[in-house]
Amino acid sequence: MDLIPVKNYSISISKLFSEQDDFTRIIGSGNYNSVFVLADTNTEKYCLPFITSGLSSHRVIRIEPGEKNKTINTCSAIWQQLAEGGATRNSLLINLGGGVIGDMGGFCAATFKRGIDFINIPTTLLAMVDASVGGKTGIDVDGIKNLVGLFQDPKHIFISSVFLSSLPSNQLRSGFAEMIKHGLISDRNYWNEVKEIQPDMYRDWQHVIRRSVEIKKQVVESDPYESGIRKTLNFGHTVGHAIETLSLMRDEQPLLHGEAIAAGMICEAWLSAKVNGLPASSLDDIVAHILLLFPKYKLAGIEYAALHKLMKMDKKNDGDKIQFSLLHEIGNCGFNIAVPDMVLQEAYNFYCNL
Ligand SMILES: NC(=O)c1ccc[n+]([C@@H]2O[C@H](COP(=O)([O-])OP(=O)(O)OC[C@H]3O[C@@H](n4cnc5c(N)ncnc54)[C@H](O)[C@@H]3O)[C@@H](O)[C@H]2O)c1
Ligand SMILES: [Zn+2]
Repeated sequence: MDLIPVKNYSISISKLFSEQDDFTRIIGSGNYNSVFVLADTNTEKYCLPFITSGLSSHRVIRIEPGEKNKTINTCSAIWQQLAEGGATRNSLLINLGGGVIGDMGGFCAATFKRGIDFINIPTTLLAMVDASVGGKTGIDVDGIKNLVGLFQDPKHIFISSVFLSSLPSNQLRSGFAEMIKHGLISDRNYWNEVKEIQPDMYRDWQHVIRRSVEIKKQVVESDPYESGIRKTLNFGHTVGHAIETLSLMRDEQPLLHGEAIAAGMICEAWLSAKVNGLPASSLDDIVAHILLLFPKYKLAGIEYAALHKLMKMDKKNDGDKIQFSLLHEIGNCGFNIAVPDMVLQEAYNFYCNL
């Protein structure tokens, strides 16, 4: 088992959940008078059985899965079940699930009776390498993602790759896009390692999850509130978020977050080459490897206007300017880079013509 210390807590990474020696000890040392597990119907079925032997008495709060449930109504139901279950300020909430459970459970815990302790047990690859680390909690309001939330750290994060065995392969690839991003923004060797991985066939997740978590942790610790270098984690996300929203509006089977970010990384790698000095050979390398795993998403030239409008609304912008995080080279990323509209449209055309 690997242990990564973070400022106020630790992240332990293992293959099997039974290797998480500290699970029972950490819960015991909190002297909690009640323990609640927040799960969705999938994680209750596939993941809860792995953790219950390490828990004495506990109550399960079950919600329906999916982003559409990351709302204040679901929070009300969670707060109500905590109250009915007798939760006090000395209770613990264990968030067992993907990013939706982690974000919303963290938010509910941080606000219930002005804050109770919570632990994250991420069960998707995306939540393991991204959502569970970094202290951001929150919910969507009126369809706007993460409009309300706060920064609050968990007491501990227990990551076990065993949970990935039941995860659908499109969800696995979605999380893998964030690992590709980690290599691109901060570690060329890691990029070379990640390039060799076929997510569906891969079995040795523990080691690469560790590297991704270290990268995210390092960036977040040096800039917890995203005023500087944390913005590099947004590489691929300015265009990617807009594509994700467009897909949600028009597709019966919308793109998953990572699938949209993969397309966004191609566009933003092109911008990196155009305005930020990324060598052409690196652009070719990035495009070729991303397309191997993420088939091109069909976008028509006409949809640029809609996409541009969405990018203008991005909450990371400064005034009227769309801000990008762009690569100088593989393993080195800059941030707060404004790009002229014409160049942005060229990046879009580049992707459409691939
Ligand atoms: N806080 C942050 O820093 C941060 C960062 C990135 C993303 N996020 C948030 O994360 C969310 C997306 O997270 P996600 O991709 O994990 O989605 P998710 O939580 O919706 O999980 C995806 C699906 O997989 C199912 N599932 C989860 N674990 C499973 C398992 N082991 N086996 C079988 N099925 C399983 C879930 O029930 C769900 O249907 C978004 O709301 C996003 O805003 C937050
Ligand atoms: Zn992301």
